[in-house]
This record gives sequence, C-alpha cells and structure tokens, in this order.
Amino acid sequence: MSAAGGRRRLLIRGLAQLATPAGTVAPLRGPALGDVDVLEDAYVLCDGDTIEAVGRMRDLEPLDGDVEELDGRGLCAIPGLVDCHTHACFAGDRVEEFALRASGATYEELHAAGSGIMATVRATRAAGEDALAAAVRKHRDWMLREGTTTFESKSGYGLDRDTELASLRAIRDAGGVPTWLGAHAVPPEFPDADAYLDFALAEVLPAAAELAEAADVFVERGAFGVAQARRYLEACGEAGLASRLHGDQFTEQGGVPLAVELGARSVDHLEATGAEGVATLSKSDVAAVLLPASALFLGRPMPPARALVDAGAIVALATDFNPGSAFCESLPIVCCLAATQLKLSPPEALAACTVNAAHVLRRGERVGRLAPGYEADVVLLDAPDWRYLSYHLGGHLVAQVVLRGAPAELV
Ligand code: NIG
Ligand code: FE
Repeated sequence: MSAAGGRRRLLIRGLAQLATPAGTVAPLRGPALGDVDVLEDAYVLCDGDTIEAVGRMRDLEPLDGDVEELDGRGLCAIPGLVDCHTHACFAGDRVEEFALRASGATYEELHAAGSGIMATVRATRAAGEDALAAAVRKHRDWMLREGTTTFESKSGYGLDRDTELASLRAIRDAGGVPTWLGAHAVPPEFPDADAYLDFALAEVLPAAAELAEAADVFVERGAFGVAQARRYLEACGEAGLASRLHGDQFTEQGGVPLAVELGARSVDHLEATGAEGVATLSKSDVAAVLLPASALFLGRPMPPARALVDAGAIVALATDFNPGSAFCESLPIVCCLAATQLKLSPPEALAACTVNAAHVLRRGERVGRLAPGYEADVVLLDAPDWRYLSYHLGGHLVAQVVLRGAPAELV
C-alpha cells in the first residue's frame, strides 16, 4: 500500500516475455485476430486495479513511493483470461451419465430420456441457496487457478423462479457476469415449451432482468425452436437484457439467422454450422463463441473455426464449463484445442479468449489487454515462451495470477 492514497502499486519485473493482443480496438477480426505484441525482458506496473504502464526493463524509470514487487524471471505475462460462456452454477455431477456415454449412449438420447440437463436441474433445485453460492465460488476458484480473471456464468439449472433467481444472485455475488438462461430446457411440470415460456416470461423475467446482463436460449430439437427463441429473446430485450443463443450444437435449426436478425451479442457452439451460416456470421457483428472442449467431451465435430476467422467473423473461445457436456474449466486447454483441432494460431487463440471474449461481455474497453488503463489482471505462465498457453496440454502452466492489481491466492 502506498502511504499517501492507500493505493497499492505492484511492479511485476523481469518477465521473460509479455504478450498482449495488438492495437486498441475490440473486437479483433480477420487477420488482425493474429496480431500480438510481444516484449522480451518486460515489466507490468499496476496502480490499484488498473495497469499504469508496461514496457521493457531497460526503459523502466525509477519509481517514487512504495511499490510492491513480484519477480517475473522465467515467467511470461499474458492478460487475465476471459471465459465468456460457462454454466458454473450447478449442484451434483453427471459422472454416471459420463460413464454411460463412454459405453455408447449419446448426450441427446440421455436428454430425451429425462436425464442430462434435467438431472442437474433436480440436483440444483434441491441444493438450497447457500450451497449454490458455495458451488459457484468453488468453480470460480477452479477457473482462477487456470488463469480466468473474468467469467460469465449462466443460470439455467433451476428453471423455476426461486432457483433461477438464486442462481443469478450466486453468480453475481461470486464476481461473475450473470446471464439468464431461462430457456435451457422445458421442465416436466409444463406440458410444452410455450407453456413454460408463458411462466418464465411472466414470473421470472422481471426479477431476472434486475440481476442479469443478458438472456440466453438453447435452440435445438428437443429444446426450443426458433419461434420460441425469438419470443423469449424479444421479451428479454424489452426488459433490457442483451441476447445470446446456444445455436447449431447438434443441428442447424436457424439459430444463426435469428441471432443476426435480433442483433444478438453472440451465437455459441456452431459445431453443426455450414458454409451459409459462416457467411451470414462473417457479414454481421454477432460473435461466434466456439467451445471446442464441449465438442471434444461429447465426441462431436469441431466448429468451422478457420472458415469463420478467414471470412472475418468475430470469433471468441470459451470453455462451456458445465457438468454434462464440458466438465472443463481450463481456458489453456481450450487454447490447446484451438491450435490442434480448430487450427487457430496461438496469437489468434489468445485474442479469442481475452479481448474478443471481453467484447462479448461488453467489457472490451477495459478488459483483455496488458496496456495502460486496462484492468490489472495478469496471468504469469511458468514458461519461457508465452505460446505455451496453447502448447502445454493440461500440465502445470499458470504460476501466478494478479487479480485487479493484487496477487491472487490460488486453490
Ligand atoms: O452448452 N447444450 C446446452 N447446454 C449446455 C450443456 C448443459 C448440460 O449438459 O448440462 C451446453 O453444452
Ligand atoms: Fe453452454
């Protein structure tokens, strides 16, 4: 702490490398997605929760006043990672289902049989608000251990008024960005999707709109159709919520054109998206949020990432962390999948889970770069080259995390 203002200044010095998406605009698209600035023998100076300066050690001027120091020798600094698509508010697990899938059952079959998402809904409804809040904090700490300093989380495992609102409060109180996934599945107490939406929009939306920043809907056979998704998102939009969609996960049901029609922030998944969907997205300002850990976990085709980037679409990467389709909280693993499965270069992956993910959450002005004025969120990689972010598959990678200017305790 500096005695004068009570503000903490922190100098991370002697870094082997510092890497940050280039430029100042968000989002980055097309060839600009791969532009990264790399400094050797670098420092980051934080003033309170904001980055004051970054540069090379040889250009560092003497600093006045109290400055705490962190030794960055042998480490590489990248911006705090941004996970713009998670389902971190859930109780229980789906390990039985995972074992069944390993023996050949499919995710869609389990969902149709009332297992899958509804199994987690039952566990989440039974958990109670305190246990749910503790679960979100635990999942947030897992993410932080992997370098995630900003996370979005959806509700969607309550699907009743009390549990949906408790979920949104738990996400907000854990420091997450809450999204109301009120249209995740149709719970069995309703005869059909429209009857459920009648309830959700009349009874849950008014309070959900006070807690969440965006609304999300699962557009898929067995979940919600395009007309129902339009109705849900339009009503949410009137209540002040931005639109997001789960689209083209298993089949193309029209989620992409609907996202563009509604001016949604993003359409997420896209494992089933064909050439027309790629062209539609690339001409729009709707971000394509790609979730390769989910495709891997379910043994599904990977989304057309290379085509989307090359066509100029806004592309972001996220984990989709949840107990059923992606029990993975690690954005570094996602960056490795981006390189090995999606054919995105390490610089493209870095931008996709920093500045572009921050853009999806409408925080791109202040989050996602190591540059003056940005939030002082820094990940220190135990690596001689920052591209270990994509290269090191699932090993010890994150040495330290600085969160809003202070070294974080990692679980
Ligand atoms: O994004 N597909 C819809 N929702 C989640 C999975 C939720 C679950 O299986 O519990 C997803 O993959
Ligand atoms: Fe999801």
